[in-house]
Amino acid sequence: MAFPESFLQELKLRNDITELVSSYITLKRRGRNMVGLCPFHGEKTPSFNIYTENGSFYCFGCGVGGDVITFVMKMENLDYVDAVKLLAQRAGMNMPEDSYDDSMSRIRTRVYEANREAARYYYKTLYSPDGKSGLDYFHGRMLSDRTIRHFGLGFADDDWSSLCDYLIGKGFTKNELTAANLAVKQRSGSGVYDRFRNRVMFPIIDLRGNVVAFGGRIMTDEKPKYLNTSDTPVFKKSENLFSLNNAKNSGSRTLILCEGYMDVIAVNQAGFQNAVATLGTALTKEQAMLMKRYADEVVICYDSDEAGQKATARAIPILRSAGLLIRILTVPSGKDPDEFIKSKGADGAAAFKNLIDKSGNDVEYRLEKLKSSYNLNSSDGKVQFLEEAARVVAEIYSPIEREVYISKLCKEFEISKDSFQRQVDSITRRKNREDKRKEIRKIRNDLSGRGDKLDTEHAKKPRSSSAEEALIAYLINNPDSVEYISERVDPGMFRNELMKRYFTYFSDRIAQELDPLNNLTADFSEDERSRVYKILSKHSAIAQTRSALDEYIKIINEESKRLSKKDLSNMTAEEIQKYLNSKK
Ligand code: GTP
Ligand code: MN
Repeated sequence: MAFPESFLQELKLRNDITELVSSYITLKRRGRNMVGLCPFHGEKTPSFNIYTENGSFYCFGCGVGGDVITFVMKMENLDYVDAVKLLAQRAGMNMPEDSYDDSMSRIRTRVYEANREAARYYYKTLYSPDGKSGLDYFHGRMLSDRTIRHFGLGFADDDWSSLCDYLIGKGFTKNELTAANLAVKQRSGSGVYDRFRNRVMFPIIDLRGNVVAFGGRIMTDEKPKYLNTSDTPVFKKSENLFSLNNAKNSGSRTLILCEGYMDVIAVNQAGFQNAVATLGTALTKEQAMLMKRYADEVVICYDSDEAGQKATARAIPILRSAGLLIRILTVPSGKDPDEFIKSKGADGAAAFKNLIDKSGNDVEYRLEKLKSSYNLNSSDGKVQFLEEAARVVAEIYSPIEREVYISKLCKEFEISKDSFQRQVDSITRRKNREDKRKEIRKIRNDLSGRGDKLDTEHAKKPRSSSAEEALIAYLINNPDSVEYISERVDPGMFRNELMKRYFTYFSDRIAQELDPLNNLTADFSEDERSRVYKILSKHSAIAQTRSALDEYIKIINEESKRLSKKDLSNMTAEEIQKYLNSKK
């Protein structure tokens, strides 16, 4: 990345991490640090820490960490360059010139441009003679021209290269078109052909108004019914929602979560701008967190078929853990929302509004489902139902809400509140014990490094790895110690490859008098960057004394003389002899 170091340094100085983060989440002071509920995963007790001493954050719950730039990238869903731009703007700084020629950033810009041109082209085609079948299709599904324009719907004609020809004529390269997944490489030769053919097209637009992907529906019964853009440099299916760009401006803190594109569009046309859909996949944690930023409540509005009900059951805990309130809308007579609204003709909007108003919350929904699966006329059935119902009630976090359901069920089934309450309490206690045990196990695993996918060596060589890690933290916290350390430790002594890479990198940067943390993006993966902040969060500058440093150095020296079995088996006889001599 071509940003000058001095620019990045000033950018970080002028954007105070505590101030920035508190514009998104509420922070509380804990000791020297600030803590809050992590905005990147759902949690009820705060494990998101801000370290003002080095301008960083780290979440012990999900393992994400970084500096102000990383925070903005994740929070605003921006790439590196755009996050830097936003922070520069915030601090009233000018962007340095000529700093955009980073190749990844360039390809992303080109993919956005290609998508925008493609959306225009598909829309134009829809209203041309070549697009007649597409326009007839949309009109046949009762979409007005106004709705079509609002969503920028379009048509990909039945030609193998019309879009490619058009975009190449506009100066795009074949590589750019395949990167955007608008074109596919021919199996032999260097040609490319259109990915979407003879389909009506739904552009997917992100929160900043960029066209990031497309869904295309075939107009017959052929398979696949919908074809979506695969993941590209600007698009990840699992982290986007269709029509969130519209929904976020609806002025409502409720979102209506539908299963498909056509449902969202029909619901919009009926007057509800706050509908969104996943893009042909099951709901993910990331999508739930994204919704949480714009809403407090989600109305799940999936198809009433079996698949839709299964999807509803799966979505409930994901939305709950993101901290969202849930209501479940049941569309009558096996229809999906689009079919329902259409079937009501001119009364579609009012009928749908009625369904929303009638929708119960997730607990009511689950209790109703349970009721229908037991024979409540028999005593056995009743007992089984109430035992299961106690489980559902025990999962409710709010004591008041729990109380309401306990009273309701006891009245309905004419049982004493005492016995039902005891049943619920015993489940809650068991669950709390299990949660605590799980948490302890997690912390223990975390400390031992067991199950650590990024740093697989830590668990095998805990003593050396821990010392190496602590030394790296010391070096970053005390850059002026670089000479003292390099006289006593060299990278060859490191037994943990990841720590060796960090050590080499940070020593080099400090030796060049650069801020060690300024430019991690270029050299490390996202997980590797987060890990640096985890290491720093474990070893605060104040806790690391000079005598601790000498201890790390001593351990690294001792440990470097020990060789693993693997090292031994790779050695020649001569090398082994030399090693044995060195140990005498
Ligand atoms: P219509 O038939 O046009 O009304 O669509 P629908 O939304 O009623 O279809 P369905 O319930 O079958 O699918 C719901 C959503 O799943 C769609 O909007 C798509 O996002 C996705 N989907 C459906 N079929 C396919 C498919 O064949 N491939 C992929 N990738 N996604 C699909
Ligand atoms: Mn449908």
